Amino acid sequence: MTEITKETILAAIGDVQEPEIERGLVELGMVPEVQTDGHDVALTIELPTPIDPNKPRIEADLRAALATLPQLGAITLNWTSRVRASSGGKSEAQPIPGVKNTIAVASGKGGVGKSTVAVNLAVMLARSGAAVGLLDTDVYGPSIPLMMGQTENKPAMRGGKIMPLEAHGVKLMSIGFLLDPNKALIWRGPLVAQLIGQFLNDVAWGELDYLVIDLPPGTGDVQLTLVQKIPISGAVIVTTPQDVALADAVKGLRMFEEVKTPVLGIVENMSWFICPNCATRHDIFSADGGARTAAAHNVALLGQIPLESGVRAGGDSGVPIAIDAPEAPTGRAFQHIAERVAMSLAVQAARKPRKPTIMLRTIQ
Ligand SMILES: Nc1ncnc2c1ncn2[C@@H]1O[C@H](COP(=O)(O)OP(=O)(O)OP(=O)(O)O)[C@@H](O)[C@H]1O
Ligand SMILES: [Mg+2]
Repeated sequence: MTEITKETILAAIGDVQEPEIERGLVELGMVPEVQTDGHDVALTIELPTPIDPNKPRIEADLRAALATLPQLGAITLNWTSRVRASSGGKSEAQPIPGVKNTIAVASGKGGVGKSTVAVNLAVMLARSGAAVGLLDTDVYGPSIPLMMGQTENKPAMRGGKIMPLEAHGVKLMSIGFLLDPNKALIWRGPLVAQLIGQFLNDVAWGELDYLVIDLPPGTGDVQLTLVQKIPISGAVIVTTPQDVALADAVKGLRMFEEVKTPVLGIVENMSWFICPNCATRHDIFSADGGARTAAAHNVALLGQIPLESGVRAGGDSGVPIAIDAPEAPTGRAFQHIAERVAMSLAVQAARKPRKPTIMLRTIQ
């Protein structure tokens, strides 16, 4: 009678792939623990992100592969995750210590929903168990404090560092925490660069899997400073479906392409409106423009978000829809966007790992 051994297990599951990275789980180091008593089998699987949507498929593939082992007893699968750092554009720029992935949420045009997408993306990633920060770089009109329900609190200073606030499981930093919200702000280029530098270097972010960065509209000083100062792992472009917004979205796309920052995809916001009375769909800002633009520029369409009063209300009340109604269709759309963003970073990290950098964890 042949007993199951660690070697026969590894051979049996050797062909099981991570469906998006398209390499073997074992080869990718995603099966760090294999145990057997000769019949029962216990595996630990380390997913590349806690929000990995491929878990059911990986589980089915593993179980099918293990079923080929003779005399197989019970299978126990233990799931964990480890997010890896992915390199982005400007590889000579210094990453923020402790921060594995930076995601810039941008658009050419104002008011299309960047901050809404940034907030809900950050919250969805945090809900899955990832360590997440959200940096509001909109020095002209910061909206993160309101959208995350943090208009009253001020960050503390400790050891010369700014301690980020925290809401809905996300660490937060915004110029809005530091200034009088009723004062008009006029920033000149060098000051903006200095402030952004401070946000990146002087905030005690700690260890983060993802730092979501909400940008002001356009392709100005803030955007340029950011891409020069840190390697952005990937950019998410937000647009509404109508032509004027799309033209600006394309400008945003080009800017990131020029500085060699990977564009993770396009989010089409305010895609349609479902009338609450008659349930008819209205394409208020035209239809599918984001999808067409994504296809034309060979980038992914990460998701389509309907125009919905709950999204606006979530922004105004400080309780994002990703917290308030994660299972409703719009909540699910944000979940899908977060999955797509996290997975494309995981694929990127597996294909092009970032050069070693200072991580904060002390070695025991
Ligand atoms: N899908 C949606 N349904 C309903 N309201 C929305 C939706 N997306 C955004 N909004 C609302 O539209 C307004 C503008 O959105 P948001 O502030 O996210 O845009 P922005 O692109 O960040 O704007 P800015 O360019 O000023 O930074 C907000 O009041 C927000 O709540
Ligand atoms: Mg905004």
